[in-house]
Amino acid sequence: MEMSALWKLSYGMYAIGTLDGERPTGCIVNTVIQITSDNPVIAISMNKNNYTYDCIKRTGRFSVSILSEKTTQNVIAKLGFSSGRDTDKFDGDIFAWEYMDGLPVVNENSCAHITAEVITMTEMETHYVILARVQDAKVTSDYNPMTYKYYHEVIKGKAPKNAPTYQAPEKITDKETWACQICGYIYEGDLTKEPEDFVCPICKQPKSMFKKQ
Ligand SMILES: Cc1cc2nc3c(=O)[nH]c(=O)nc-3n(C[C@H](O)[C@H](O)[C@H](O)COP(=O)(O)O)c2cc1C
Repeated sequence: MEMSALWKLSYGMYAIGTLDGERPTGCIVNTVIQITSDNPVIAISMNKNNYTYDCIKRTGRFSVSILSEKTTQNVIAKLGFSSGRDTDKFDGDIFAWEYMDGLPVVNENSCAHITAEVITMTEMETHYVILARVQDAKVTSDYNPMTYKYYHEVIKGKAPKNAPTYQAPEKITDKETWACQICGYIYEGDLTKEPEDFVCPICKQPKSMFKKQ
């Protein structure tokens, strides 16, 4: 089987918002699709280990913020590379957000917001496919939605192992390389020469999170 055939599938970039009791939380996914048009149903693919999955299971609700090409990397770094289990992702002023129908939505140059109520969840080995009825939807800008391809090719972003479309990094160079243990970003050259306050350009983790390849 040619696995690379699957890499030709197209995706977008989305922030999922939900609640942990009264605390807003959520994560990044690239897997949101519209299933039906009349009284619309959408589906997301959510890793069983994501804390967002636990919270959606408890509340039965989530929001989708459709990210645009102008959405800053901070949103993806904060929501996509740390866990709501031990981080207050919506705390502080790292990115703009608000509540819509009681659920957190990202305002940082997003294209649209959707809120949805879970209908059913289908279990796969690593992920649940969550089908949900759209409750409300609002266009927030006319910016271009960020595609997964744009995230990889223009922003040079990575996806962690919990993303269903994760690909292990290929060997890209004969130079010395260091890999960020959080997001997989590959630094080429001698990382020890960087200053002590160097952080990963993708997930903002410190130098100590890098391992020599
Ligand atoms: C570009 C990108 C795409 C991702 N796509 C998905 C996805 O479709 N499904 C999923 O379960 N996790 C996906 N993730 C991973 C979660 O966002 C990540 O595991 C997050 O840290 C989970 O946080 P939580 O534990 O607070 O839920 C993606 C992450 C990135 C950066």
